[in-house]
Amino acid sequence: MRVLITGAGGQLGRDLVEAFADAAVHPADVVAIEHGHLDVGDEVAVGEAVAAYRPEVVVNAGAWTDVDGCEADPARAHRVNALGPWWLARACARRGARLITVSTDYVFSGVAPVDGAGQPRAWTEFDAVAPLNAYGRSKAAGEQLVRQTLAEHHIVRTAWVSGARGRNFVTTMLRLAGERGQVAVVDDQFGSPTCTRDLAAAIVELAASERYGTWNRTNTGWCSWYDLAAAVFELAGVEVELTAQPSSALDRPAPRPGWSVLDPTHAEAAGLRRLPHWRDGLARLLTELAG
Ligand SMILES: NC(=O)c1ccc[n+]([C@@H]2O[C@H](COP(=O)([O-])OP(=O)(O)OC[C@H]3O[C@@H](n4cnc5c(N)ncnc54)[C@H](OP(=O)(O)O)[C@@H]3O)[C@@H](O)[C@H]2O)c1
Repeated sequence: MRVLITGAGGQLGRDLVEAFADAAVHPADVVAIEHGHLDVGDEVAVGEAVAAYRPEVVVNAGAWTDVDGCEADPARAHRVNALGPWWLARACARRGARLITVSTDYVFSGVAPVDGAGQPRAWTEFDAVAPLNAYGRSKAAGEQLVRQTLAEHHIVRTAWVSGARGRNFVTTMLRLAGERGQVAVVDDQFGSPTCTRDLAAAIVELAASERYGTWNRTNTGWCSWYDLAAAVFELAGVEVELTAQPSSALDRPAPRPGWSVLDPTHAEAAGLRRLPHWRDGLARLLTELAG
């Protein structure tokens, strides 16, 4: 399988390169291109890259992930996060390649849907999107453009992503604990923490699948950001004063969804593997960070 990875310098992109190598894809068949060498928002450059490398599968890990930055510059967010996947889908359609592009829980409103008993339930792949902010709108538009352009696509919705080679919630918690000895974390937003190693392995699995579509792919289980912070400090053996605070205490330009739990039922019914529990993924991530 010949694979082209875009946005390969990000935390997920780096682990994707290793995951395809672990899957015994010959190194010469994995082309990893970082942002500096390919801007997915540049239609001509995207077309040329796909024509030059002739991949069977393109994996797009490139995105503008600065949520507050996107709020300030929605045109740039749309160019990268919506047009980028579209240009890739169009290039794949011309060259007979498949596309895997990564999306987000931020396509949803954050107001939990309820089950028959009136209890909150996780978002399925078939719930209506209703993004709260410019980042979510740009990602939802990217999904729609890919679906209408290329049948042979996988859209991978994930959430709360952390890897060893990126700036993320886990590395931020460890840094703040070291700098301040006390941390306040919101306890009214819920999601499924996901480590890039497990997400990359799930994407490798999809790369071999011809059952195309949209998939929820997060680590199993869910918690609040406060719970996640507590687990980081517990598993890392870090002493810190941890306090809970409401989201309203944070004055951020872009609103964040309160409920980001993604339901894996459809993906698992379609034969995809269940990802490990988030605490297991977190423990392995912390070991990697300590190594
Ligand atoms: N992080 C999360 O919590 C989270 C949650 C849900 C979904 N996701 C999705 O997961 C995917 C991977 O995100 P991540 O966590 O790995 O984020 P990341 O570490 O910020 O990586 C994103 C990469 O995309 C690159 N990029 C930015 N603009 C680009 C462009 N125009 N063309 C090509 N590459 C570009 C960035 O390069 P520069 O840094 O050089 O700009 C960076 O290397 C994204 O689709 C993201 O939307 C992430």
